[in-house]
Amino acid sequence: MSDVLFQPLAFRNLTVKNRLFRSNISGRFDNYDGSGTQTRINWETKFAKGGVGAIVSSFVPVTIRGRIVPNYATIDHDARIPFWRRVGEAVHAHDCKFILQLSHGGRQRDIPGIEFAKGLSSTDRPDPLHGFECERMTTAQIKEAVDQFAQGARRAREAGLDGVELHGANGYLITQFLSSAINDRTDEYGGPLENRARFVLEIVAAIRAEVGRDFHLQMKISATENANAMVPGEPRGNTIDDSIRVCTWLEEAGVDAIHVSGGAFFPHPRNPVGDLPLDELLKTYDSLVASGTKTLRNYIFFRGKLSGEFFQKRWRKEAGKVFEGVTLADAAAIKKAVGIPVICTGGFQTASFIRAALEGGKCDAVSIARSLVANPDLPKMFASGLDRPPKPCTYCNKCLINAPENPLGCYEEARFDSREEMVREIMSVFSAN
Ligand SMILES: Cc1cc2nc3c(=O)[nH]c(=O)nc-3n(C[C@H](O)[C@H](O)[C@H](O)COP(=O)(O)O)c2cc1C
Ligand code: SF4
Repeated sequence: MSDVLFQPLAFRNLTVKNRLFRSNISGRFDNYDGSGTQTRINWETKFAKGGVGAIVSSFVPVTIRGRIVPNYATIDHDARIPFWRRVGEAVHAHDCKFILQLSHGGRQRDIPGIEFAKGLSSTDRPDPLHGFECERMTTAQIKEAVDQFAQGARRAREAGLDGVELHGANGYLITQFLSSAINDRTDEYGGPLENRARFVLEIVAAIRAEVGRDFHLQMKISATENANAMVPGEPRGNTIDDSIRVCTWLEEAGVDAIHVSGGAFFPHPRNPVGDLPLDELLKTYDSLVASGTKTLRNYIFFRGKLSGEFFQKRWRKEAGKVFEGVTLADAAAIKKAVGIPVICTGGFQTASFIRAALEGGKCDAVSIARSLVANPDLPKMFASGLDRPPKPCTYCNKCLINAPENPLGCYEEARFDSREEMVREIMSVFSAN
C-alpha cells in the first residue's frame, strides 16, 4: 500500500498494520469492583472493526487505590487476566492490536469510590483546581506502586495482549512525580529532573525484569505541561526540553515508543483540545462535588452566569484556535531526539493532514479518540478516499463532560437527525456484539 496512512509500523517487539491508533478512551462500562463487562468488549470491538491498527486501552488501574472513577476494569490481581484475554481476542479477530494502559491516578481522582479516602501522590498538596486531597507517598509506598505496575504488565502479557503503555501523562501519578509544578519532595524522588524521573525509570526497570525485553512497552507523556492554564499563579511545570530529556532516558531504559500528549491535569484546555460546554458541565460536575475541597466552590462558580462564562472564556483562550495536531510540534521535537517510534495524539481527523505529518517525519503514527467516537469507521473512510468524514467531530467536548455520569458516546446533537437517534447510538454499546 503506497498510502503512508496504511503502511505497517514496526516497533521493536510489535508490528501494527497501519498508522491510525485508537487513543485511550472508555466510559464507566465495567463493574464497581473492577471486574470487566461485555459492554467494554463491545466498545473496543467497534473500533477494531472500524479499521484502526491498534487500540490503546483507556486508564486501567494497577491498584484500586489508583483508580479515577469506579466502573473501570482494573488489572490489580491475577483473577482479572481472563477478562483481558477476552478483550484481546475480540480485538484480534479484526486484525487489530491491543495495548493496555497501565495507570495510577495518584491524587487526581474524579470520583474516588468507597475504598480509600485519599489518593497517594508525590506530594501532600491537594490539586489546585478541584482540591483533590492526597497523602505523600513513603519510600515503601513508592516501591509498592512500582511493583503494582510491573505485575500489571505481567498480567497483560499473560492475557495475550500486544503490549502495555505507562500512563505517564495528564496529571496522573507518574506525572505527579515528573512534574516540577507538582513534585515538591526533598528526597531522591524530588528536586532535579533526574530525581523526578526516578519513579518512572524504576517502573520501566521493574517491568523489564518481570516481562523481559520482548514485550512492547510504550509511555504516554505530557510533553508540555502548561500547569498554570486554568489556575493563575501556579508554576508552568515541565517544558518540552524537560520532556525530551525524560524521553531519551526512557529509551535508554528499554521503552519501545513514546506517545505524546499534553497538560499537567485532566481535562486540560489542550487535551482533549476543544470547547468547554458549560451547559453540560453544569449537568455533570455535581458528581464531583464531594470529591475535592474546591469542587463545591467550583460548581457554584460555574453556575454563575458571569463567572461561568469567565471560566469558559479562559478555557477557550488556552485551547487556542487550531485543534488538529495540537501536540504535533512537541512530537516532532521528541522524534528528533529519540530513535524509537513516536505516536502523537490531539485532534486528528483529516487524512491529508495526518499524511503530511507522517511524511514530514513529525511522528510515526497518530492516535485518535474523539474523532473515532464520532466516526468509528474513520480508517475505512480514509481508505475509501474521503479526506474528512461527512459529519466530523466538532471538538465540542460534550462526550468528555458527560463521561463521569453518563455512558460514553457522541453527545453532539447537531451530528444526528434527532436527539432520539443520538441516544440510540450512545446506548447501542450495551447491546452491540
Ligand atoms: C472521555 C475521554 C476519556 C479519555 N480517557 C483517557 C484515558 O483513560 N487515558 C488517556 O491517556 N487519555 C484519555 N483521554 C485522552 C485521549 O486518549 C486523547 O489523547 C485526547 O482526547 C486527544 O485526542 P483526540 O483529539 O483524538 O480526542 C480521554 C479523552 C476523552 C475525551
Ligand atoms: S461529543 Fe461528539 S462531536 Fe463532540 S467532541 Fe465528543 S465525539 Fe466530538
